[in-house]
Amino acid sequence: MLDGFDEKARQVLTGNDRGGYTVPTAGLYPYQWNWDSAFAALGFSTFNTGRAWREIETLFSGQWTDGMVPHILFHKPNRGYFPGPEIWGGDGPIPSSGISQPPVITSFARQIYEKNPEFGWAKLIQLYPKMLAWHRWFMNWRLDQGAVCATHPWETGRDNAPDWDVAMSRIAPQEVGHYVRRDIEHVAPEMRPHKEDYDRYIWLIQLGNRLQWDQAKLLEQNPFRVADPTMTFICLRAARDILKTGQEFNLDVEGLEADIEQLEGGAESLWNDSLGCYDSRTVPGNFNGVCSSASFLCWYAGINDDRQLPQFRRVINKVQYPVASFDPESEQFDALRYWRGPTWAFMNYLISSGLQEFGLNEAKYVKKSTQSLIGRSGFFEYFSPVSGAAAGGGSFAWTAAVWLAWAEESEEDK
Ligand code: DGY
Repeated sequence: MLDGFDEKARQVLTGNDRGGYTVPTAGLYPYQWNWDSAFAALGFSTFNTGRAWREIETLFSGQWTDGMVPHILFHKPNRGYFPGPEIWGGDGPIPSSGISQPPVITSFARQIYEKNPEFGWAKLIQLYPKMLAWHRWFMNWRLDQGAVCATHPWETGRDNAPDWDVAMSRIAPQEVGHYVRRDIEHVAPEMRPHKEDYDRYIWLIQLGNRLQWDQAKLLEQNPFRVADPTMTFICLRAARDILKTGQEFNLDVEGLEADIEQLEGGAESLWNDSLGCYDSRTVPGNFNGVCSSASFLCWYAGINDDRQLPQFRRVINKVQYPVASFDPESEQFDALRYWRGPTWAFMNYLISSGLQEFGLNEAKYVKKSTQSLIGRSGFFEYFSPVSGAAAGGGSFAWTAAVWLAWAEESEEDK
């Protein structure tokens, strides 16, 4: 592969290391983000297993008493990011946001353990009750017909995806007040969500803060609820991985098999036959008609679904640098605007891993084209699927981590 690139990737991770946790990128995201941290751990596991486990443990040190693991941990104050801890009013052991994110880290903990069981078994067992409590929190508070719902677009990690447009249009954010966005001081505005989106993001946070993140009250009063393929597929994968660990070490697995069945039913409830894709569903409401990169996480969730192949093949063949986060043939496709078009290396890693587990040839294609994209454009947050142009933040931890994880696999293949 590219000379010196592995070393550069390691430098990105160590450069973003803040001592026990990794920031996604300096400036734009100066705290610990939940699923970014999962990828940082994966990247570290290719050259420093101890540091990988520390990343995971630090994330779980912010877990709330109800089991929720927040999407941001605000370890140290930083004025360069908005909205900070004072806007969220989160009530955990570490100042935090009040929403969660897809539990990729649960599955990566298992993956990192499997690479080096001698080192990881005791750590995995120690984390087990925490992972189980988080899983149960999703099952208690986030289900609709067995599919996992987001209560804020940021909970899915796909902030401005078209999946949320209907639910967002139900919010009238007049009383949100004045605020200053910091993100567009770091990145060009055309690569970020619109102000109308931000008003609603902040409005939802203000609501959660007012209700002290009481999930029962939020269930009644939060108008934003969308059953989401990202959350459903990743929670399903995580539940399977928790079960494996529980069975291996004879730990509490009560209810897990039934939960997996329920999540499988939930995934099926997201199949939109007229679209030929797994789709998001506004609650209450209908399918959103969105074929996104999240639709292609079914394989990662352990669902080998041939129905998804035709649309997947169409989407990856339509652009030079797949997988576009949103259907490149849609009129709303926007090659550079965050989750409305760009290609994300970390999503491609999950998609490709799922495909590989079922022996599908496209796994290699997604991997190779993403490697050449990173090799050409660098360790950026995301990329134009059309031109391959770099977008968003630079020196990005999860892009570097994906590079290293794939480099390690290639070494093993030799
Ligand atoms: C942001 O600030 O843009 C983040 O995506 C929120 O998680």
